[in-house]
Amino acid sequence: MPMEKYLNTSIKEIINQFPEVADSLNEYNIGCTPCSVGSCLLKDIVEIHNLPADEEQELMARIAKVIYPDREVIIPEIKRKSETRPKEISYSPPMQKLVNEHVLIKRLVALIPEVIYNLDVASEEGRQVIIDSVDFIRSYADKYHHAKEEEILFKCFDENLDILKTMREDHEEARAHVKAMLEALDKKDKEAVSEHLNAYQELLTEHIKKEDEILYLWMDRSFSITQIGELFSKFNTRDEEFGDVPERCEEFINKLEEVVK
Ligand SMILES: [Fe+2]
Ligand SMILES: [Fe+2]
Repeated sequence: MPMEKYLNTSIKEIINQFPEVADSLNEYNIGCTPCSVGSCLLKDIVEIHNLPADEEQELMARIAKVIYPDREVIIPEIKRKSETRPKEISYSPPMQKLVNEHVLIKRLVALIPEVIYNLDVASEEGRQVIIDSVDFIRSYADKYHHAKEEEILFKCFDENLDILKTMREDHEEARAHVKAMLEALDKKDKEAVSEHLNAYQELLTEHIKKEDEILYLWMDRSFSITQIGELFSKFNTRDEEFGDVPERCEEFINKLEEVVK
């Protein structure tokens, strides 16, 4: 069957050959076009996004029309690990924990435009705002949250999965922006500090959206009850190791909100 060949082709290759496919994916909120990796297969993308069956058929029909404009093509059904998604998003307890952690990270991310607006690299006080924000990013977003993902959650899956490679690359890119931010701060280079803050905001906004709306739900669909229990207990053990770090980080965000708003 002709469409089957394309189901097993990487999305980047398909978009290179048929750029209009990107528009169809965008309309269904499947943002493969800006993805830096793009090696996910079309069939995996369709499965991961878990569209309702009728929308999936519509999307596949549109892609088939782009690839084979002159002929009728039978659309093969994509095998799923579970049935269509429920109307309300609900997560298992361990994944809910990660979603809750995103809330605090998103509160920092939301403050970045104000931080940039008030940015003062000339005074010690001004520089301290960035140093403290970086400290939050490193202690909470990175060591506490991203490490939980990389060291525990992602290990439940094949590490070569493209979607996980993309997530790890986002984490690395975020770390690089933070490092560059501090270097720029040392040089009192206001423009470069703003650029990296901006880039961090954009990256994390998209990254968290991908995890909350796609990745975690897809992972949850593949977990057994035993795996969910194990994951939850591993997360709790990790939380204990961090003591009062999360509380202190939340206090910092409360204060920052008061200062910059
Ligand atoms: Fe992540
Ligand atoms: Fe995350």
